[in-house]
Amino acid sequence: MTSDSSSDSVDDPLFNSGHRIFSNKDLLKIGHVPEADRIVGRDEEISKLAKRLNGAVHGYSPENVMIYGKTGAGKSLVSRHVCQRAQNAADSSVDIGIAYIDCAEDNTETQAISSLAAKLNDESKTDITVPHTGLSTSKYYKLLWKTLDAQFDSVIIILDEIDLMNDDSVLMKLSRAEEAGKIDCSIGVIAISNRIQYVDNLNERVKSSFQHKELFFKPYDANQLREIMLNREDAFQDGILSEDVIPLSAAFAAQEHGDARKAINILRHAGEVAYEEEAEMVREEHVRQAQQHAEKDRFRELVNGAPTQAKAALLALTELSVNASDDAFLTSRVYDQYERICGHLDIDTLSVRRFRDILKEQAFLGVVEIEKINKGSAGGIHLQNRLIEDPQVVRETILEDARMQDWSGK
Ligand SMILES: Nc1ncnc2c1ncn2[C@@H]1O[C@H](COP(=O)(O)OP(=O)(O)OP(=O)(O)O)[C@@H](O)[C@H]1O
Ligand SMILES: [Mg+2]
Repeated sequence: MTSDSSSDSVDDPLFNSGHRIFSNKDLLKIGHVPEADRIVGRDEEISKLAKRLNGAVHGYSPENVMIYGKTGAGKSLVSRHVCQRAQNAADSSVDIGIAYIDCAEDNTETQAISSLAAKLNDESKTDITVPHTGLSTSKYYKLLWKTLDAQFDSVIIILDEIDLMNDDSVLMKLSRAEEAGKIDCSIGVIAISNRIQYVDNLNERVKSSFQHKELFFKPYDANQLREIMLNREDAFQDGILSEDVIPLSAAFAAQEHGDARKAINILRHAGEVAYEEEAEMVREEHVRQAQQHAEKDRFRELVNGAPTQAKAALLALTELSVNASDDAFLTSRVYDQYERICGHLDIDTLSVRRFRDILKEQAFLGVVEIEKINKGSAGGIHLQNRLIEDPQVVRETILEDARMQDWSGK
């Protein structure tokens, strides 16, 4: 179905009432890549990224880039947008390939490489067939090198949510392929993560071969969020949004950090709630309902995607929060509980220092709030940790993970 087909569909009263609210709902899909003039406040990031990839457009090596930023900061969007433009702008003598891998889905080395080979291979040009499954990792690499050399001068590979990939050697092998003489085609990798410590934790060998520049995406402010939504207002029928809907959605999304994903989700969901209620217009009350829903969803996603150690740390904080009247706890106390959990689940117990880093990262992601408490000259500075979302919701989400379930009987 094309994106605007909804406007010329058959007028059956049984099915058409959704169109009273939306005229082109696809504009509010998260994976949708809007045209350049709908992208707000990212000119600098777009031009910096373009500079790094410029080589690919003119037939020499692009640079590798690591993009960081909180969720909903436009990292995936900007990467896809710039790659599309690079492909369009390529010199006529340069064949440039683009591939997007979502590492949340393709989270093993074999899956990622087979997916890359399949996406980049145009069978009609190469006569190469890439089977979906069944080959060894090294065979998939060979197919990938073959299909690249058969078609391209350079390729840009987006590895989105790279922190969810369970093996970082993909980065090393992709970055070394040309240098090691495996291919003539040059490869540029855009790796995207919302975990700021991702590179620090990479294996040393990977770190030294994945030479890259870093780009950091700042959160949006409420004005930018408003503009992002105004630029997609035509997803709705004319006049169906009451005046306060967009400003209120922007305010909600700006509250914790400026998250455009949340802004757009709230807006879409508000429309859906209004539709369910058969309301004449989308109003403030629909936005409020949508906000509560979006908050729980966002949180579930964050906690679900967290590594085991982070889940154990969060579970420790959760247990304390559920069982005490307080909601903020000193790091040492959370650590004691964490040690008990790790012992029970038979997983490694990290040092206090690493444990503190995990909590810091969870604070960066907006799961935990950390407050400094100054206990005077003798007592020094202590940190207190608090869960931002309802501890029961966090607990339920963590215990969905099979590795953590042994704790539920406690
Ligand atoms: N500057 C922008 N202008 C217009 N729309 C934007 C902008 N930034 C983000 N969006 C929209 O907000 C949503 C979330 O953006 P995106 O998926 O790029 O975020 P992200 O940084 O990749 O987040 P995550 O880390 O959660 O994957 C998308 O629908 C995207 O189109
Ligand atoms: Mg993304």
